Parts: sequence; structure tokens; C-alpha cells
Amino acid sequence: MEVDTILSKYPRSKDYLLEILHDIQNLSGKNFIPDEVIQRVADHLNVKKAQVYGVIGYYSMFSTKPRGKHVIRVCASPICNMMGSCNLLDFLKQKLGVEVGETTADGLFTLEAAECLGNCAAAPALMINQEMFGNLTPGMIESLLEHYSKKSK
Ligand code: FES
Repeated sequence: MEVDTILSKYPRSKDYLLEILHDIQNLSGKNFIPDEVIQRVADHLNVKKAQVYGVIGYYSMFSTKPRGKHVIRVCASPICNMMGSCNLLDFLKQKLGVEVGETTADGLFTLEAAECLGNCAAAPALMINQEMFGNLTPGMIESLLEHYSKKSK
């Protein structure tokens, strides 16, 4: 689907900005919103380009830089931290061979640390793309990595 097709799906109202940004981010398979598209989104919704950048900057799930096919966002907020998210982040770094903010060499996974994901009752929590997972253990993380690796083949 092209950017124009995405834009034509939505009314010209800024109420649809988040949906549009999600669709565009999913377009390339690299989980990002290219800078050159932002003016087109702003024009479509009749808002300033800075407003679109503001929304992208506010929500950590958006990026203007290419990322992996699957973005793993580990909650690093206090409750998850107390429940062991630091250890899980270290475990993921070691399994994937990347630091936070980096993408694996095969382009499959990007590892990020995030603020509270709103799933504190199931801490420690993480998201992979738009899916939420909680009560995590290293074993569960291994299964998730395997599942998402297979899904990409
Ligand atoms: S503190 Fe981790 S989901 Fe809220």
C-alpha cells in the first residue's frame, strides 16, 4: 500500500493522525516514518509539520529512523524494574547481540527500553510491535523470539 492510499483512507481530520502514522510506519517493514512523508501527512490533515513531528516524538512507539521488522520495547519504569525488567533487558541484549536502540544484523529485531506500557499488573512487561506481553521470564522471552523469528520466514 502506498502513502497516498493510506491518506485517502482517512478523513482530513487530525483525529486520525495516530492511525495514519501507525499505517505508514507499518508500510516499509522497517517500522519507521520517513521524514519525506511527514509533510504529506501534515498537508493532508491541514496541520503544521511540527505538529506531526511533535506527535511522533511524544509517542515512543514511533520512529523516523529505520528499525527492525519487530520492535521489542521493554518497560523500564519502576514497577517493572522492581519485578526484574533490568535482568530481562540484559537477557535480551545477550540473546540478540545488540544494545538498547540497536537492530540485529539480520534486520529482524530492534531492542528498545520504554516508559510504562500500562501493563503494570503483569510486570515485568514488554511489547513486540503492537502486542503486549507480561509476567515475563527468560524462558518466555526465548519462546517469543523463536515465534517472531519463525513468523518472519
Ligand atoms: S511499570 Fe511496566 S508496564 Fe507499567
